[in-house]
Amino acid sequence: MQSDGIARYMSLWNVSRTSAHLSNVTSFQQQTCGIPSKSPRTPQWHLADSSDHGLILPVCLKERLRSPGSCGSGDYWQELAMNDTRPIIETLGLTKRFGELRAVDHIDLSIREGEVFGLLGPNGAGKTTTLSMLATLLKPTEGTAKVDGHDVLTEAAAVRKSIGIVFQEPSSDDILTGRENLYLHALMYGVDRRIREQRFREVLKLVDLEDRADGQVKKYSGGMRRRLELARGLLHKPKILFLDEPTLGLDPQTREHIWQYIRRLVDLEHVTVILTTHYMEEAERLCDRVAIIDDGRIIALDTPERLKHIIGGDIIRLRIQNPQLGRIKELGYVVKTDQAGDLVTLTVKDSGVHLQEILSLVGDVKSVELRTPTLNDVFLHFTGHEIRGDNAEGGFFQRVARARSGGN
Ligand SMILES: Nc1ncnc2c1ncn2[C@@H]1O[C@H](COP(=O)(O)OP(=O)(O)OP(=O)(O)O)[C@@H](O)[C@H]1O
Ligand SMILES: [Mg+2]
Repeated sequence: MQSDGIARYMSLWNVSRTSAHLSNVTSFQQQTCGIPSKSPRTPQWHLADSSDHGLILPVCLKERLRSPGSCGSGDYWQELAMNDTRPIIETLGLTKRFGELRAVDHIDLSIREGEVFGLLGPNGAGKTTTLSMLATLLKPTEGTAKVDGHDVLTEAAAVRKSIGIVFQEPSSDDILTGRENLYLHALMYGVDRRIREQRFREVLKLVDLEDRADGQVKKYSGGMRRRLELARGLLHKPKILFLDEPTLGLDPQTREHIWQYIRRLVDLEHVTVILTTHYMEEAERLCDRVAIIDDGRIIALDTPERLKHIIGGDIIRLRIQNPQLGRIKELGYVVKTDQAGDLVTLTVKDSGVHLQEILSLVGDVKSVELRTPTLNDVFLHFTGHEIRGDNAEGGFFQRVARARSGGN
């Protein structure tokens, strides 16, 4: 059985994995990798090294201007203005309904060339559905979207030339080697054979997989497989790279590495990145701007710093025996007060200056935690619930397990 990821990857070219891969691995290997086969079979779906079957997309090798907006480097908005960047993705009222369910509900976006743009939201928020519409894998029910100036409904082929995708579910073929997966992708995209080998070297180097490129993907770790898929997404030099949950299910250390690779590819390949995530830290660390999405709607959109600024102060969490909050609520620097039993959460301006006074007024304090706001606080501020926490829809861990097992 094929994984969701592979099915979605192949559907970019309307090719079924069964015909492209299972029937023809032998002939594919012979043609592209020079691997002799003991029992060659007649290919039903011939992977010609040209664009003659109408499925291969020409490569866009146009060099683009160096883009601004690297995370954390100076004033992002000033950089944008100075570099006169243009919107590379624009949506208006973009909507997707599945029966009664409005998975994506009238989304308006304008994403600039060179941005790392994040869609941050919990399970089922509509992140993958939004990406799928932008990548022409799903048709919008309503509204419009333009990617690199092309309409996703009427100019789908042109959109596909401009984009690369790393799916939420694993989509590399695990019985092939890393290099063979790259070959397959290069053939599908019609990457010029004269630059192919050099391009393999470049993308493999970018993700530090040169040494393992000739090993079978099924022997890769989860992080290596993700890195291969990043390399593959970049192979044809797309202008825009979609990353759907790029670090889903990876341990914190591997996640950190993947973030470094993503930053590196943004710097070296000058690609616009649209990523989805439900990891706040990922959005904060990688993204120039973040759209917070819940129930198919964008509820806030700005730079991570500005979003956190909305909270209006630092967060102080106190565990107090018999909290006395009357006087606290009257203090001008206390922006917000929440109480759940003995746990009191305050939003406080200039918390360092005022902490002492607060502690003297609230009663018998058992513990104190003071921190700057996170995007989770922003999410909580707008929705009344936290971004973490898996919903009843199978939730996060089930998805991780599915992703790790290749979706089977
Ligand atoms: N093909 C489909 N048919 C019916 N409902 C769907 C389909 N695809 C997605 N949905 C529903 O649309 C909603 C949004 O799903 P989507 O996969 O876009 O969420 P997500 O934000 O990517 O979530 P996650 O973080 O779990 O990946 C969910 O309620 C989901 O069940
Ligand atoms: Mg998703």
